[in-house]
Amino acid sequence: MDIRFDNAGVNYGARTALSPLSLTLRERRIGVIGLNGSGKTTFARLINGLVKPTTGRVTVNDLDTVSDAAKVLGKVGYIFQSPQNQIILPIVRDDIAYGLKARGYDKAKINAAVEGVLGRFGASHLGSRRAHELSGGELQMAALCSVLVTGPDILILDEPTNQLDLKNRALVQKTVMGLPESVIVISHDLPLLEDFERVLLFDQGRLLADAPAGEAIARYRELAA
Ligand SMILES: Nc1ncnc2c1ncn2[C@@H]1O[C@H](COP(=O)(O)OP(=O)(O)OP(=O)(O)O)[C@@H](O)[C@H]1O
Ligand SMILES: [Mg+2]
Repeated sequence: MDIRFDNAGVNYGARTALSPLSLTLRERRIGVIGLNGSGKTTFARLINGLVKPTTGRVTVNDLDTVSDAAKVLGKVGYIFQSPQNQIILPIVRDDIAYGLKARGYDKAKINAAVEGVLGRFGASHLGSRRAHELSGGELQMAALCSVLVTGPDILILDEPTNQLDLKNRALVQKTVMGLPESVIVISHDLPLLEDFERVLLFDQGRLLADAPAGEAIARYRELAA
């Protein structure tokens, strides 16, 4: 993976959500931390084109997130801060199949892919459940299946352990760390990011630190003290 920010920034009217920044991301595990409203989600959404840069540009494997938006969306999977907002169909299995149907795959191929991804995450028992009845941890797993079934190279998780109990948190941590895909995790759950190669700390829309996890987390603790 090769994600490049070239002087990319985001303004909402007069408000600067993200000051222009330039960097290249190639590590397999990247964390994003910072106080509420510091620009983390805005930064992450630039990567899959959900947010367009007001200045500069962002590319993913040389694809521009604005002019090649559809291709970028196929490469970068995104799990929302509140995954219930991205589940479209009532039954988990149907929701996972949705993205594949949209790609015109035949029924047998779709069924095999859906059962395959559920099996991969030990979530086969969730297939016939109603999404709105799932617990927070189950919902996170269902969202992970719905996104990963389409085969993205890069996965962005926005606060994946938010509101999870210790058991589900451990399950999500183990699952995320075991993924072969490149992963970008936004989190207030600092121990989750402890082993990450690179952690970006944002403060008031500015990139304040870009360092291995230990160093970036220490800066964050100073900032919040
Ligand atoms: N669509 C929008 N319109 C106007 N302002 C926005 C919009 N989205 C975000 N902002 C503002 O941009 C800033 C950064 O928001 P962002 O959601 O990126 O923060 P965050 O670091 O993800 O926060 P949190 O930890 O609370 O999720 C905030 O001041 C926010 O109010
Ligand atoms: Mg956020």
